[in-house]
Amino acid sequence: MSWTEQDAPWWTKAVVYQVYPRSFADSDGDGIGDLGGVLQRLDHLADLGVDVLWLSPLYPSPQDDNGYDISDYRDVDPTFGTLAQLDELIGALHARGMKLVMDLVVNHTSDEHPWFVESRSSTDNPKRDWYWWRPARDGMAAGAPGAEPTNWESFFSGPAWELDEATGEYCLHLFSRKQPDLNWENPEVRAAVFDMMRWWLDRGVDGFRMDVINLISKRVEADGSLHDGPSHDGSPYGDRSPETVCGPRIHEFLAEMHREVFAGRDAQLITVGEMPGVTVEQARRFTDPDRAEVDMVFQFEHVGLDHGPGGKFDPKPLSLVDLKASFGRWQAGLADVGWNSLYWDNHDQPRAVSRFGDDSPEHRRASATCLATLLHLHRGTPYVYQGEEIGMANHPFAALDEVADIESVNWAREALAAGHDLADVMAAIRHSGRDNARTPVQWDASPHAGFTTGTPWLAVNPDHVDWNVAAQRDDPDSVLAHHRRLIALRHDDPVVQLGEFGMLLPEHERLYAFTRRLAGRELLVVCNVGSTPVDVADLLAQVTEAELVLGNHPDVEDRRVLRAWEAWVLRTA
Ligand code: NOJ
Repeated sequence: MSWTEQDAPWWTKAVVYQVYPRSFADSDGDGIGDLGGVLQRLDHLADLGVDVLWLSPLYPSPQDDNGYDISDYRDVDPTFGTLAQLDELIGALHARGMKLVMDLVVNHTSDEHPWFVESRSSTDNPKRDWYWWRPARDGMAAGAPGAEPTNWESFFSGPAWELDEATGEYCLHLFSRKQPDLNWENPEVRAAVFDMMRWWLDRGVDGFRMDVINLISKRVEADGSLHDGPSHDGSPYGDRSPETVCGPRIHEFLAEMHREVFAGRDAQLITVGEMPGVTVEQARRFTDPDRAEVDMVFQFEHVGLDHGPGGKFDPKPLSLVDLKASFGRWQAGLADVGWNSLYWDNHDQPRAVSRFGDDSPEHRRASATCLATLLHLHRGTPYVYQGEEIGMANHPFAALDEVADIESVNWAREALAAGHDLADVMAAIRHSGRDNARTPVQWDASPHAGFTTGTPWLAVNPDHVDWNVAAQRDDPDSVLAHHRRLIALRHDDPVVQLGEFGMLLPEHERLYAFTRRLAGRELLVVCNVGSTPVDVADLLAQVTEAELVLGNHPDVEDRRVLRAWEAWVLRTA
């Protein structure tokens, strides 16, 4: 949207910080992070200057997918603390001028949620239709190979359908078999979800990050039938995306949610829909304020650019030209309508400095700060994931028994069964696995990095002796200090908040350069995305004269050349 300083929503100025509670800070020594740990570490967030805390799920859950499988939407899992502590957190954040965003996981519940327990109990239970129950494929016996109602593959390997022996029907689970999909076609489901959301807002939370919210509308015929997806070569599965991504009623459902939950109080809130597979055109509709659906979406294009034909565990080299083309398209597409969210990292992605930067000792600090500069200077609301602010890197997972994530574990099982080499499987997990993001936050150089006094649930990265919050807090040249400065710059400068984005040198293979313009003022951002110097003055003459607002090296020796991973924010008008 082309907002002015007067009418722009508050979140155009804001920076969100994501906490994955299990890995953030452990206050009771059981090796698992908890709310007590979050409460103890609020000074860190205040020091960084972030405006919003997004908490990944800490509701009661069997933890099949680390809490994204919820068995009670209105409580806190004892592993993470109590509802009273959550209230305390809301109060403590508000007292510091910060807001709290909860994770809303309503594409599916846990199979241990009472709704599902009822739904499974018999074919005529009143909640049967709250989930997607279907008989075996026509003419096939339930349980026979290939008898699943559709050929969809689950995100976590294997078929997306689980047979319930007792009732003889299959139930849909796009994620793990312990995460059955809710049937949003049923108005009672929607009413129950909206009621729960109002309950959280009444408790004082300031918004929601909506887990895979663009999957809630499936393409279903009036007679209830679902369709196979186009099948891949050599795979028993078809592509579920055309049947499940941004389905026919998605806008209707989100508009209804807005009416039922947010209307009247939305100006103080923030809503972000996680939307795998969303296109720019669709995102314009989702985030158009006139349509009143969500404030912004998490799109996945840039984090798919290094996926090969076999998906995320079949990585390919990333091209900077492609990355810029993708971001450029999103920046342009949401310039006059809607709004972008900006992220490199979250709990599902490998660490940005290892993936998009260079985590070798020589270049880690510069590449982490270069990436931070890019993150914070685009137009949109930046999201910083715990540990990103100190340049945490991927973990050197050596053996399969060190891996915890259900996605990696299931994929490894299938890959090994298909004859892949263990060494290759481990290399893929080291490169792409979600556990890279989930190793404990590195607070200090002590044996468990200050995360816990017990045994951490997932190993601490051995590099914590050098890379930790304590070591960076008072170091003006640290990754942490750079994030702090970037966040302050957004708060202070309307050009960063609202300025029009203009990509420069789109075909350059090493420079990422763009302008931000607002009311006759202009910032120029120039970054060297690589580990050798690049001459820049011949390409962008203005760099030599412009005022340097922020750089990521302690000194700037030569304004004609960007050193390895050097990043400048310059004022050109
Ligand atoms: C997206 C979440 O970010 C991810 O962690 C989770 O596994 C799936 N949705 C299923 O809830």
